[in-house]
Order: sequence, then structure tokens, then C-alpha cells
Amino acid sequence: MKIIVTGGAGFIGGNYIHIMQKKHPEDEIICLDALTYAGNIETLAQVMQKPNFKFVKGDIADRAAVFKLFAKEKPDIVINFAAESHVDRSLLNPELFLQTNIIGTSVLLDACREYGIKRYHQVSTDEVYGDLPLDRPDLFFTEETPLHTSSPYSASKASADLLVLAYYRTFGVPVTISRCSNNYGPYHFPEKLIPLMIVNALKNKPLPIYGKGENIRDWLYVEDHCTAIDLIVRSGKVGEVYNIGGHNEKTNLQVVQAILKELGKGEESICYVADRLGHDRRYAIDPTKIKHELGWEPITGFDEGIKKTIIWYITHKLWWQRIVNGEYQTYYKNMYYGR
Ligand code: NAD
Ligand code: TYD
Repeated sequence: MKIIVTGGAGFIGGNYIHIMQKKHPEDEIICLDALTYAGNIETLAQVMQKPNFKFVKGDIADRAAVFKLFAKEKPDIVINFAAESHVDRSLLNPELFLQTNIIGTSVLLDACREYGIKRYHQVSTDEVYGDLPLDRPDLFFTEETPLHTSSPYSASKASADLLVLAYYRTFGVPVTISRCSNNYGPYHFPEKLIPLMIVNALKNKPLPIYGKGENIRDWLYVEDHCTAIDLIVRSGKVGEVYNIGGHNEKTNLQVVQAILKELGKGEESICYVADRLGHDRRYAIDPTKIKHELGWEPITGFDEGIKKTIIWYITHKLWWQRIVNGEYQTYYKNMYYGR
């Protein structure tokens, strides 16, 4: 099987490529990635020389380049991880999110239509459902929950989902969509909560918590997300949406406390900063459908996953030090100084 993986130099796509190279060595993977600030070719260093792997630098919204690639490679499967993925950045520059997340998706769908594929899989997010109140722990997102987005990021991801379903209904493109909760693990860009807190703690810098730290996220170890996507692509029903999550809800403060405890550090470095605009209160996935239909269950619990993640950041300092010493410094100052 020939698979185009977009956004494979990013966090989840990179993990997906590493895991799939081991799980399905017979497959050929072509990674299409624009190498934005979030893409890091070093993430793919181990697979770069493999005969069944190819890296192509390119923008998913570049119609001519995408069509050329499809004409040349004639992929069986396309898995679209490529996106602008950070909510805070979507507050600074919404238009970029519309360009990559919506226009980029439409270009890929058109190429799938033109060249014919066995499956197009859209990697989406639980953020398309909006948020849940903090005082209703009985509520969860199901696949039937209406789309009700809060940020330019989630609005762009929801728009892309609607396009994907439209191409299924109208043109018969064989699609699936997965909507996963927050991921964590190796190769996670240190602008997101967990890697940012680990890196700041390792550098003895303040740990900025938005608002009171009461917002809740449903954390999933990235490997479990990747195995769920693989299962959906190979055995999921065309035209369907699958939620992915493992009932690992934590407040942001609990997450930060767990990281500090694991590192043997006190909590004096925690600092509470101005809240994020439109900050979603709680995300919580009901994964019943994927469990019943495809037999998927997460393997790694939060305690084990956070230990593994911290160890990875301690043993891969060069990977993140190159990032935090570069352009990221400007972003960090704009986002956090004087907040
Ligand atoms: P990421 O920001 O770490 O990586 C995104 C990758 O896409 C980078 O390699 C970047 O270079 C590439 N990219 C960006 N714009 C591109 C373009 N126009 N053309 C080609 N490549 C481009 O993101 P991530 O956290 O790995 O997320 C991957 C996908 O999973 C996204 O679609 C995101 O919405 C979704 N998702 C993420 C999470 C999470 O917790 N991180 C949870 C659920 C769903
Ligand atoms: P993030 O990792 O950006 O993911 P998302 O907003 O897509 O869920 O943030 C996770 C949670 O952590 C979210 O409630 C915002 C909060 N947060 C902080 O409190 N401080 C920070 O510096 C960051 C980046 C996030």
C-alpha cells in the first residue's frame, strides 16, 4: 500500500510514521510537509534513509504541487495530519488557519477525486464540538454532538470536516474522520501545555497557567491515537466519524502538578497568567463507538504516559533546545511577557 501522510514532520504525524514503519514495513510512506515552524525534519531522521520512505517538502494548499505529486505517486491512501494546530496562534493570525486547514483540505480532496484513492482520512479534533461545562462531569462528546466551535482553530477544523463529508456524499470520495482528544508524548512542539511545562521546568523557568488552571482536557498518549487512526483507515466504515479518547480527564493544574512531582520539583515556579480568550472549559470524549465497532482501547494510562514523555524530553534535549533557541523566542515573548 502506498500512503501519503501529510504533516508527518509534526508531532502526531511524526509519531504515526515511526509506529507504522514498524507495524506495516510492507507499506510505502510518502510524507508531504511544508516544514512550517511546527515541522521538524529531525523528527524523521530515523526513517529518512529507509527505502520505503520518501519526504516531499510542499504545501497541501498548493494545488499544482499536490496534483503533480498524486499524478506521480498514485497513492492508495491519504492521511491528512497537516494543519496549523495551536489555538493561541489562531488568535494571533486566523487567516493562516483558514488557508491551511480548510483550503489545504479541499485541495487534497480534489486530488483524491481526480486520481482515485482507496481511502482519505482526515485527522480532526474533539475541539470541533466546542466545550462542556465544568459542573457536568456526566456529559461527554459523542459523534452526534453538534459542531459548536470556539476558536479560529476549531472553526477551521470543523469547516474541513464538513468539506470531507460533503466530498463523500456528493462525489463518493471514500473518507473517514477521527476526532481525538488532547495528545501528549515525544516530538511534541514545546508551545503546547505538556511539553512547554516540561521544558520550562527543566530550564527552571516559570510555568504559566492560564486563568485558575481549572480547565479540563482529556489526555491521550500519542501512540494510542496513532493505533486508532491505523485501525480506522484499515477497518473503519467509509463516510463515518470516530471519536478517539481514553477517559483521562485532568485539570491543567493537575497536569502541571504531576509534571513537577515527577521531576522532584516544588510548585513555587507555577505562575497564574491572564486567561486565553474564549478558553474552552472542558473536553471529554465518549469513545464507545470506536471501542464497539473496531475494538480499540488505549494502552497507556496518564501516569505511565507522562513518565515516558518526561524521560523522552530529558533524553532528547538537543531536539527541543534547537527549537526553543530559535524563532520560538519571539513567539514566546509575544505570547507570555506582560500577560
Ligand atoms: P503540529 O503542529 O505538531 O504539526 C503540523 C505539521 O503540519 C507540521 O509538520 C507542519 O510543518 C505541517 N504543516 C502545516 N501547514 C502545512 C501545509 N500548509 N502544508 C503541509 N504541511 C503543513 O500538529 P499536531 O499536533 O501533530 O497535529 C496533527 C493533526 O492532529 C492536526 O490536524 C491537528 O488538528 C490534529 N489534532 C491534534 C491534537 C493534539 O493534541 N496535538 C489532538 C487532536 C487532533
Ligand atoms: P494546549 O496544549 O494549547 O491545547 P488545547 O488548547 O488545544 O487544548 O492547551 C491545553 C490547556 O492548557 C488549555 O486549557 C490551555 C492551557 N494552557 C495553559 O494554561 N498555559 C499555557 O502556557 C498553555 C500553552 C496552555
